[in-house]
This record gives sequence, C-alpha cells and structure tokens, in this order.
Amino acid sequence: MLQFYEPEKDYGTPASVATEQVTVTVDGVQVTVPAGTSVMRAAAEAGIKVPKLCATDNLEAFGSCRVCLVEIEGMKGYPASCTTPVSTGMQVRTQSEHLGKLRRNVMELYISDHPLDCLTCPTNGDCELQDTAGELGLREVRYGFDGANHLVQEKDTSNPYFTFDPSKCIVCSRCVRACDEVQGTFALTIQGRGFASSVSAGQAQSFMDSDCVSCGACVKACPTATLVENSIIDAGVPEHSVVTTCAYCGVGCAFRAEVKGSTVVRMTPHKEGKANEGHACVKGRFAFGYATHKDRITQPMIREHIDQPWQVVSWEEAITHTAQRLRAIQEKHGRNSIGAISSSRCTNEEVYLVQKLVRSGFGNNNIDTCARVCHSPTGYGLKTTLGESAGTQTFASVASADVVVVMGSNPTEAHPVFGSRLKKRLREGAKLIVIDPRGIELVETPHVSADYHLAVNPGANVAILNALAHVVVSEGLHDEAFIRERCEVDGFDNWMSFISDPRHSPENCEADTGVPAALVRGAARLYATAGNGAIYYGLGVTEHSQGSTAVMGIANLAMLTGNLGREGVGVNPMRGQNNVQGSCDMGSFPHELPGYRHLSDAATRELFEREWNVQLDPEPGMRIPNMFDAAVDGNFKGLYCQGEDVAQSDPNTQHIEAALQALECLVVQDIFLNETAKFAHVFLPGCSFLEKNGTFTNAERRISPVRKVMPSLSGKEDWEVTMDLANAMGCPMNYQHPSQIMDEIARLTPTFHGVSYARLDAHGSLQWPCNEQAPEGTPTMHVDEFVRGKGYFALTEYLATQERANRRFPLLLTTGRILSQYNVGAQTRRTGNSAWHAEDILDIHPHDAEERGIAEGDWVGIASRVGNTVLHARLTERVKPGVVYTTFHHPVSGANVITTDNSDWATNCPEYKVTAVEVTKVTEPSAWQARQKQFGRRQHQLLEEATRS
Ligand code: SF4
Ligand code: SF4
Ligand code: SF4
Ligand code: FES
Repeated sequence: MLQFYEPEKDYGTPASVATEQVTVTVDGVQVTVPAGTSVMRAAAEAGIKVPKLCATDNLEAFGSCRVCLVEIEGMKGYPASCTTPVSTGMQVRTQSEHLGKLRRNVMELYISDHPLDCLTCPTNGDCELQDTAGELGLREVRYGFDGANHLVQEKDTSNPYFTFDPSKCIVCSRCVRACDEVQGTFALTIQGRGFASSVSAGQAQSFMDSDCVSCGACVKACPTATLVENSIIDAGVPEHSVVTTCAYCGVGCAFRAEVKGSTVVRMTPHKEGKANEGHACVKGRFAFGYATHKDRITQPMIREHIDQPWQVVSWEEAITHTAQRLRAIQEKHGRNSIGAISSSRCTNEEVYLVQKLVRSGFGNNNIDTCARVCHSPTGYGLKTTLGESAGTQTFASVASADVVVVMGSNPTEAHPVFGSRLKKRLREGAKLIVIDPRGIELVETPHVSADYHLAVNPGANVAILNALAHVVVSEGLHDEAFIRERCEVDGFDNWMSFISDPRHSPENCEADTGVPAALVRGAARLYATAGNGAIYYGLGVTEHSQGSTAVMGIANLAMLTGNLGREGVGVNPMRGQNNVQGSCDMGSFPHELPGYRHLSDAATRELFEREWNVQLDPEPGMRIPNMFDAAVDGNFKGLYCQGEDVAQSDPNTQHIEAALQALECLVVQDIFLNETAKFAHVFLPGCSFLEKNGTFTNAERRISPVRKVMPSLSGKEDWEVTMDLANAMGCPMNYQHPSQIMDEIARLTPTFHGVSYARLDAHGSLQWPCNEQAPEGTPTMHVDEFVRGKGYFALTEYLATQERANRRFPLLLTTGRILSQYNVGAQTRRTGNSAWHAEDILDIHPHDAEERGIAEGDWVGIASRVGNTVLHARLTERVKPGVVYTTFHHPVSGANVITTDNSDWATNCPEYKVTAVEVTKVTEPSAWQARQKQFGRRQHQLLEEATRS
C-alpha cells in the first residue's frame, strides 16, 4: 500500500508483556496499560506525545537526555517518563510552564554544541532533534556557539552505505544500545566521560575496521543526522513509502521501501513486520542497488546459437519465437523433451504459473525448482514424520526456548535477523548446542557461547543424530507420555529397538562423527532436560546423501523429547532463499501439485483438470538432475529457466555446462546475463522484487506481500511473461493481476483457502495453513495432533557417504554462505556489499596448510574426482584438521566445479556439503577458470553487439 512518507509511530519504550493491567491518568485522559509500562508509553497509548531523544520503543529505556520530564502527583521533582513505570491511579502531567522551561534548557545545551546547518542537512525534515527543538519552542541559545564544542570532528565514511558525522552527535547512546540489544554485535561503545564522551566503533576504529556488520540498526535508531544512509545524503528524504518484503533470505523481513519519484532511496525495516519486528541485515537494508544496476537487461533477445550475437526483439516477437521453438522441439523429439525450472527467488504467483504452464501447456510434469538442490529433503523428511513439509514455529517462538540446537546452519551469516533474535535469547540465558563441522560465529561471540559444539565430520550427521537419540533413550530421558499420546506406538517401539542398539552409542559412533562421546552425551542430556528445546537446521543437514534421513532424525529427536506443538520448541528448517517454502508449496516438484498433493491422486488431478480445463499426465516428470542427464544423452532439448542460475549454483558445473550446451532451446528469464544465460537462445528480461506484485512465503510459512515500488524496467512483470508464453503455446491464461493468481491458488489448495490479497493487506502477513479451520493462520503447527495424525518415528540407519576422504583426496570440502553475499551473488556482487567479500576464499586449518607448504593468501588448487579450481587460502582454526571450507558467491571461483553429483537418496538433493578433495599450492587459475573467463568475455561481447545495434 502506497503511503506518504511519515516516520513510524514510536512509543518511546518497549511494550510490557505483563498480564496485569494498570489504569493511570495522563493530562486528564485515562489509559489502561500492562503493568511495567513506562509513563512515556502510557502517554503515547493515550495519544499524548512526550518529547524524547534517548528513548525509542525497540530499546530499553536509558534515561539520559532528560527532555521527557513530567510531573506526577505525589512524586517529588520531575521524573523522566521513559524510566518511570506506571502505577495504579497515577496522575501524570506532561505539559506545564515549568516543564517547558526545563526541557528548553536541556535542549539549549544540545543545540549549543550542534552545527546550525539544518537547511543543508541531509535529514532536514526527518530529524528528531530538529522536531523536538521545534516542539519545545526553542527560539534562542543563550550560551553562544563559541565555547568548547565537537563541531570540527571528522566524518567516518568508511562504510559504503552510511556516514558517521560525530559533529552532530548528542551522545544519546541509542546507536550503542541498538547494536547491543537488537543486533547483538556490540560493535559500538561510548568512550570517554562527560564532555569528552563520544561514540566509538570498536577500539576507536572506523566502522569498516570494527566488528560492525552493517545491519543499519544504529542508523535507524539515531535521532540526528550523525548516522545517516548515504542514499539519503545523496537524494534527500523520501516522499512516500510502500511496505514490501525482502527478496534475499528465508527470514522474509518486511520493509518500508522509501521512494522519491520512482527511485528507492532507503529500505527501512518495518516495525510491524512479524518476521523481523523492525530489524534487518546488510543485504535487505542496503543492497538494493542491483535493481537499477547498469548490467540490467531490459529488452527481450533471441539468437540461434550461443556463439552468435544477441538480437534485440519486441516482447511479441520473443514470445512467439519461444513458443514456436518449444512446440517445434516437442513435435520433433516428443512431449517430454522440454521442461522448466522455477526459482525460489520468484513470487508464489510466478512459480505457480510456471508449473501450470508446464503441466497444462507443455503437457508433461517436467517442472522442478531450485529447492531440489537445497531443502527437498526437508519436504520429504518432515512430511514422512510429522505430515507437513514445513517448519513448525514462528521466529518469535525462540524467545520461549530454553535450549536451542543449531545444526548445519549459520544463522548470523545466512539468516541474520533470526540470528539476532537467537542471540538475544541466548544472552537471556537459553542454552546452545551447535552441531557443525565449523566453528560458526555462534560458537563464540560477544556475550554468547555454545554450551556444546559438536564438530561433526562432514557426512556423519545421521550418525550423530542417532547417537543423541541413543543417549536420550538409554538414559530414560524421553517423554513417554507425549510419545504414547501423539505418535504411532508400533512405529515407536520398532524405532526404540533400532536406536537402543549399542552400535548407535556415542562411543561406538565416535570414529564416524569425530566428536568425543562425552560431548554427545552432555548435549543429549541438555536438549532432553532443559525445558523447551528448539531445533534450527539448514543446508548443512539437507545437502547430503542422507539429507532426508537426517531431517527424519531431527524430527525423531523432537518427538522423542516432546518438543513439538507449542511455543519455544519445534523443528525449524532455515530456508536459504526468500521463497524456498513458497516455491515448494506451489507445486514446483515434478511429482506434486500445489499443496504437496501427489500427482497420482486422481481426485486432486481432477480438481486441477477442471480448473485448468486440461488432461494432466499422472506420471511424475523429470527432476533437475534427470533433465541435465537427459540433455547430455540427447533426449531433453528445451528448457525454460526462470530466475535460476543453474550453471553456477548446481553441482558438477562441467556436467551442467555440457547439458546446457546440448539444448536446442534454452530460455532464460532473469534480470542479468547470468552464467546460465550465457548458454541461452532466448533471454526474457525479468523484474527485481521492487518492480512487481506478488507474495513470498518465508521459513515460518508466513505469506507476505511483495508490492510494486517502481515501474518494471522491461515493461512487464514476470508473471505476465509466463502468461504470454502460455497463451502463445495455446494454453489459455487470463489474469489481470497476481491477486487473481492467488485466488486460484487459494481455491485449489486447502491450506491456502483463507488467503487473499485483501486479507494479506488487512493482516500484514498470514502463516499457512490459513483456511476455514484457521482463519487467522497457524503460527505453531502440530499443536494437538500431527498433520499426519500420529507422529512417525522413521528408522534412520547411518550409511557413510561414498564421498569419503582417501589417499588421493584426503580432505573433505564443505561449502556455505557469508553475510554480505547472497547465493550465486548475482545481486549482491552488484552492490556495495562486495566491499566485504571480493572473492571466495578457501579456509584451511593451519596444520593441513603447513603439511602442504601453504601460507596465508597463497593460490591453492582444490581437486576433487570431478574437477578442480583455484582459490586463495585463508588459514583458520574455524575448520578442524581434515576439513576445508569455501563459499560459492563468485562464478569464477568454480566452487561447484569440484562438487560431485552425489545426492540424497530420497530427493536427489546434491551432496554439496561433502566433497573429498586434495589441496595443493599452485601459481595460476585452473584450466576451467581460464576457459570460463574467456567464455564469459565472449558472451559479454555478444551482448554488447546486440545492445549497440
Ligand atoms: S550497523 Fe549494525 S553492527 Fe554496525 S554498528 Fe550499527 S548496529 Fe552495530
Ligand atoms: S550517533 Fe546518533 S544515536 Fe548514537 S549517540 Fe550520537 S546521536 Fe545518539
Ligand atoms: S536478507 Fe534475510 S535477514 Fe537480511 S533483511 Fe533480507 S530477509 Fe531479513
Ligand atoms: S527520553 Fe527519557 S531521558 Fe531521554
């Protein structure tokens, strides 16, 4: 919804969660608030504004600025309203001549040490100091401006996104408290005393040299122009704002996109966003410049062969050409010779349309999504054990957890806003168990450390989960009552005899897991006995040959200990991309229609056949790896790839490249000429999330609105392009707006029956299932019973992966993400975020490095049985001996040249997390990297020729 720009309402202090209510009178107005509410907040609830500077409602009251003084009957002096809690019958006066005088005196002191440049200040008109001075009626400063002051202090412009101008600082400490309380990084302090006190990043460092992670919480908290976004310095304050949802990770933060004309000048995390409650990370907050980057391709292009220049064509020509090519392939090679890949970066509506186009237009089920290569084991594992392919909680639920298990997930880098919530709970005293081959940040970070770090060997997740369950069972720590009431008893008894076997004891598993048995025993006892136990897991669990087994092992542990069906517990898959949950929900897998209903179910098929007026093929189609294998074999010839960069993101790059090269028609719909598009014959320009309407569904099953903030640079929204292609292929689609697509989804999908754009607008977001039984959505799943009825304990036999270290490849490579970059980096590499991560690096333990004569910063060759690549080395003890680690954000790194096509037994999710490699010191890039560079250069030339002509 478009709104004229207005700062969000600030109640001054956080809401109290007390249940007891207290009634007070403020300026003659009676107001009832929870006990523990500050006088300032009670006044705000009554619609009365008390002036303030150091208070803001996402930080604990501090009481330093003294402009919020009030008079309270029966109380001596003038208490600060932000630090004074209400009490029954309290009579408060917020305005009097004396109060006005006191406040003006305070304000006068602030202004006497503040530059008088309001008219040229970047935040003129959007500054709390300026507003408060105006509200207090300050007309003069009696002290002059010649005394000692801070007006000549140097600006810190080291951060690419914001500037720190200490001459404007009023030392209110909001920034310091935001960094501590909200973000949990503790990068800022107030150094010095009295007049000399000032804000300092780290040990008097620049922001860039300090521990700052550029989340922007301090910038948002600052009531002056001391900390201000560079985009605001450049463009001035916004005119209007639109509430939308971040297009990066699966946290799904809500933002106010603040706009001037049609230019986004700031992304401000939305206080009412239920996933983020006003917080953000460097990606969503600042890395939006890619949307208008010069590399954007905004016109459709076609070509016959990939060694020919592109030809820019009209939308009509591109669509007609694509439809004809795909139909011609089908006529020549058969109905099954084409397919599509949809993307978890796209909206629900777009993903839904792509699968509809495939099933009803292509006439097959060759539709798969990138969730295949990340969380497909979550779908299989959770559906099998609990009955629903989704996480069980809200993010806010972690505030009630007593012990948290983080397994194969790195929240502070990959899901930073959840990471901050989690750290807050840990600072409050919750216990932490980290299961990860690497020492991720949570293991040891300011004011937080893991009670147990189980540094499991890559590939041994199932062994360690079994060992944990074995301890719980053998020590009688399981929740017998929960199991007998909520789970299949026969299945449980069967599982009990399986897991009780001594082969699963931590001692017997030690050789596989690499984790001392005593640590496993301690962690198991803690999880089973500490109260509410919540498990958060990520791709370090799923991207294995036993990914689905590990997910079932996690669900088993949660059922075993009764940790499901209420706040503070649960099984929570941390989804990588913004709409992984949604793309799976929307029927993007070849065997499932929307809502995870198997194609073989005739009644479900009939429902869709009636709505779509087609006959559906009951046979599941090809998964992504099958499509590529078939392409190499010459049986799969045409691919429509929307928003995915398989040439960079999928394993065994050289195999993928061979498959793409073998296609007769590769249609790529994207915003940049990504690595996959370099092999394409048709390029359909896509939209960034700022240019379209739709919805994303985050890791909490929360469906949130994506709203058009600026016009589409290509003239079309992505759903329109798919619709046009469908129509050109003789598969009629007629939607005027994505809300109509959502209406169709809601009609056909029981868990979405209650979802509509009108309801999303009214609620802000909705967590599915949202239907007749749960009209307001479902924050916590499996409350009284599991979706499948009784919970199922699946047997989780540990089978070592074939990808084992051996003499030739003695190290195990595992991969992951870092905070500043996102997935293949296509977006974040085109923003200031590259300041933090200009290249992918190989982390290696100093002991392994020394054995190989490798020093910090050396070029190292990393060879696996499928390929090799070259990166710079970093020596670190964050990885244990025998394990090396890298990220995959830069195409030239070729991280996936070395990953193999081993995959999860149930879902084909690639085993990205375990590749046996050898690392050696080298002096130049690999042959693949040299080829890749040359090919990339050639493709850019061909693109330039097209755009010049
Ligand atoms: S940007 Fe975030 S991490 Fe950096 S100092 Fe500010 S609050 Fe702390
Ligand atoms: S930088 Fe801003 S928030 Fe921090 S102390 Fe100064 S005025 Fe307050
Ligand atoms: S990247 Fe994730 S955590 Fe960061 S702002 Fe976007 S949704 Fe939130
Ligand atoms: S707002 Fe209360 S003391 Fe600053």
